[in-house]
Amino acid sequence: MAYETLIVETRGNVGLVTLNRPQALNALNSTVLKELKEAYAAFHADEEIGAIVITGSERAFAAGADIKEMQSLEFAAMYKSDFISGWDDIAKARKPVIAAVSGFALGGGCELAMMCDFIIASETAKFGQPEITLGVIPGMGGSQRLTRAVGKAKAMDLVLTGRMMDAAEAERSGLVSRVVAPERLLDEAFAAAEKIASLSQPSVMMAKEAVNRAFETTLEEGLRFERRLFHSLFATDDQKEGMTAFVEKRKPAFKHR
Ligand code: HXC
Repeated sequence: MAYETLIVETRGNVGLVTLNRPQALNALNSTVLKELKEAYAAFHADEEIGAIVITGSERAFAAGADIKEMQSLEFAAMYKSDFISGWDDIAKARKPVIAAVSGFALGGGCELAMMCDFIIASETAKFGQPEITLGVIPGMGGSQRLTRAVGKAKAMDLVLTGRMMDAAEAERSGLVSRVVAPERLLDEAFAAAEKIASLSQPSVMMAKEAVNRAFETTLEEGLRFERRLFHSLFATDDQKEGMTAFVEKRKPAFKHR
């Protein structure tokens, strides 16, 4: 499949998506969304793929939604088409997605990174929700996911002032899981993705579901949900294989069932 705004590759059991609109610092427009959906769908349909890495360029992961595309939009048309709601599909990816972020991750770019399961940042990464400086507010989850990730104080600071935070501050705040040197970024993200892809797919997907449920429900319901998933994994061949391999002191050979 030929993509206009993405480079999509498969490396072993990992799918790699590189945002590729360098002239606009990877600003996210409707073509990017359409193509990302296609790329994700293809990776989900491919049994061999166990994890996805999404990245941008060294200068920018993505500098936001495309301001030039939005500039002349009017309320009624946006409302009727439920503008940008399609990004919910990206956030609902069932296989794990790691964001490898270098440079600017602003507005929709920061929001896209937060739709992933975790973010690995290069030391050059800059995160922010600058929409307020354009006379609007975050629209792809920034006010909600950022607040859940970093808490009210930091989220209000970023969303109300529009300032950027660097990688060190993002790590301190809990927005990113690791910070690495720029030249190590893709290797580090790949190593994590390959590790995930080497594990049993049902358990990986349920682990993701369980952690995500923590944001949606009460502790008691979340614990019940986790326990039910835990029980259900004992219906898989991979649970038998994983535990037998441990006892026999050998590596497990997971069959993803
Ligand atoms: C469209 C963009 C863009 C964007 C950059 N470009 N960001 N085009 N949408 N979000 C374009 C510039 O117009 C310019 O094109 C080229 O990319 C290079 O950018 P420069 O500004 O020349 O680079 P630099 O001076 O290094 O500044 C980098 C920057 C700045 C600080 C990241 O570009 C910037 O502030 N960008 C906008 C960031 C932002 O406000 N994001 C939030 C968008 S709203 P030309 O053709 O002039 O060379 C949003 C809402 C999401 O995301 C939710 C609802 C959809």
